[in-house]
Amino acid sequence: DSHKRAPSQSLGPEYRPDDLKPTATVSKEVSHSNVHILPQTPQLISLLTMIRDRNTNRADFIFYSNRIIRLLVEEGLNHLPCQPLTITTPVGRTYAGVKFEGKICGVSIMRAGEAMEQGLRDCCRSVRIGKILIQRDEETSKPRLFYEKLPEDIRDRWVLLLDPMLATGGSALMAVDVLISKGVPAEHILFLNLIASPEGAANFAQKYPKLRVVTAFVDQGLDEKNYIVPGLGDFGDRFYTM
Ligand code: PRP
Ligand code: URA
Repeated sequence: DSHKRAPSQSLGPEYRPDDLKPTATVSKEVSHSNVHILPQTPQLISLLTMIRDRNTNRADFIFYSNRIIRLLVEEGLNHLPCQPLTITTPVGRTYAGVKFEGKICGVSIMRAGEAMEQGLRDCCRSVRIGKILIQRDEETSKPRLFYEKLPEDIRDRWVLLLDPMLATGGSALMAVDVLISKGVPAEHILFLNLIASPEGAANFAQKYPKLRVVTAFVDQGLDEKNYIVPGLGDFGDRFYTM
């Protein structure tokens, strides 16, 4: 598996000879069975390189993070239940395919998680989207819950929880606690995330081992301000205001 390679290894599909493969730092491995890391392809790494670069302007940051968000949504949808469905093609032959079943909704952790809503809507037309406003205290890094507005029947839905940054895990775990208090089973929650710290991923796996996390990258760690390193800085600031 390409994403199981150690950092700084060469990247690329197997048809490309080794001496033509670029090298790059790829995601750390994790041993938590509920954490799914996107395949570390040259495409994904080039998109991450763009959004990590401090010199990338806001328009490019939005464009390239949207492309990664789309990959996360597509992979997240693979975790939903599906049933066999055989159809007939225009030339009169049958094709044994599948159809997805089960109701879904999105829930974004404001503000940065709202940046992932469009990617979800692009794949799931008219999807219902709930909001939870959680802000990390800048001094203590502890999350505070300010507001939540969720679909009334959320307990009957699969929930795609959206937040691009998983640092200490405090914010996302608080959001999951809200969902569970509304009756959503942990195994019906898929947390879609761009960059996770190893600490955040471990905290999540320990508290909710059945809740699946789909992330593009597990980074090196956290700095003294609990920012992800090397990370990309403050996602919300770069997407909305910088
Ligand atoms: C950021 C980020 C996560 C959280 C991650 O949000 O979007 O929600 O911090 O940190 P944690 O895992 O240590 O809780 P922030 O509170 O800065 O608000 P924002 O979305 O308005 O930028
Ligand atoms: N929130 C961010 O936006 N970035 C981090 O590195 C940590 C929390």
